[in-house]
Amino acid sequence: MRDGFLVSIFRQTVRGMRDLLSDEAEMLRDIEEKARESAKLFGYREIITPILENYDLLAAKIGEENRKRMYVFEDLGGRKVALRPEFTASVARVVATRMASAPKPIRFFSAGSLYRYDEPQFGRYREFWQVNYELMGSDRPEADAEILSISNNLVWDLGLKDYSFKINSVGIIRSVLDKERIDEEKQNEIMQLLDKKQQKEALALVRRSGGSQKSLSILEELFQLKGEENTVIGELKKVIENYPEATKAADNLSEILRLFKSTNPQCSVTLEAGFARGLEYYTGIIFEIFVSGINIAVGGGGRYDGLLDLFSSGSGSIPAVGVALGIDRLALALQKQGATRQREDNIQVVVIPVDDQSRIEAFKKSSLLRKKGIKTEVEVMGRSVSRALSDADKKDVDYAIIIGPEETEEGLVVLRDMKKRIQEKHSLEEAARIIISHMNLEM
Ligand code: HAM
Repeated sequence: MRDGFLVSIFRQTVRGMRDLLSDEAEMLRDIEEKARESAKLFGYREIITPILENYDLLAAKIGEENRKRMYVFEDLGGRKVALRPEFTASVARVVATRMASAPKPIRFFSAGSLYRYDEPQFGRYREFWQVNYELMGSDRPEADAEILSISNNLVWDLGLKDYSFKINSVGIIRSVLDKERIDEEKQNEIMQLLDKKQQKEALALVRRSGGSQKSLSILEELFQLKGEENTVIGELKKVIENYPEATKAADNLSEILRLFKSTNPQCSVTLEAGFARGLEYYTGIIFEIFVSGINIAVGGGGRYDGLLDLFSSGSGSIPAVGVALGIDRLALALQKQGATRQREDNIQVVVIPVDDQSRIEAFKKSSLLRKKGIKTEVEVMGRSVSRALSDADKKDVDYAIIIGPEETEEGLVVLRDMKKRIQEKHSLEEAARIIISHMNLEM
């Protein structure tokens, strides 16, 4: 008898970690594959980086909240390492240290699992999956607009309806804080509070950090501003008219949106001047994507012009912009919107030997069918033909090929059409031709 304690441990995964059974796993891979196609369409080449990185690399500029949630440990060699909570730092490391003098821009795509000690709840896990696009080497609004476009392209291609982009530029709030001589560390704390939508607490911290009454009322006005980008941008510029740096950031945002909208005119964009993101490295545009039906972001990104400089040995700065979309949340959004997955991996044929002597022939024939691209399963349970057929019925298989000594003698097989419930003898070649023409009809 196994120890009851151990049995109960084996029954559970570690909190926040999930087993993804076939439907979920296939859904995840489908989304990943769509994202890979989008990457190819836009010229992003794939890059695979380690799941485990040096803690200091991952912790740099990731923001206090995210830093606290990293899985950190010492390896057997005494190195302080962490499971990656995102791709951006790793991709930035590669480009800054190995590709600093490579022709720019560099476009990279990544996909894989990430780890954050978040509180598990709907759409929030401790192991989750992202697809990630980074565009490095350009500080121009075209680059930001491209990142918005590729995000939109993927969400649209997946068939999601009714989604919108929430957008801001961290340059606007930070310039107001800069003018008040509030240092970067305090600014980061203020941005973290805004990320958690704690605007009152953020204003209180500005006050405690020496922010003037004027700056407080400007920030308060900014926090009220949200709506359709075309209308909000005008109001926003009035509020910040005495802040040239903030005005520059707003003009840049407006130019990015003009470019983005030129090819994505239907896409809904909401500008929220009080919106911030927890990651500290952002220097320009920031955005998140929301899909109706789930009120958590399916993706987020922004411009981060200083991060690569942190990792490079000073050979000129490399500006960058990027986005990551959460695969788990995209899958949840698709489910909520009632999208059904087209299964393309249904087995088309089962090959059933009628007795032990016919097993080798069944193996050989299955292998020949697979070489022709037919998805073929071979009976491995030693069941009778009728039991194997009834199992094939349950699995919605189109054809069965039954192999016995008599057919082997004749150089033929029995092809059974599972739907029509009729069977005939054919050569394997002819049987394969019938199956393939049926497959083509189904497509
Ligand atoms: P992020 O907003 O932290 O950005 O994550 C992007 C997306 O990953 C989220 O919108 C969400 O869909 C998904 N996600 C995050 N945490 C979880 C979780 N605990 N469970 C499930 N899904 C989650 C970044 O990671 C940046 N590196 C994006 C970026 C790339 N910025 C520039 N380049």
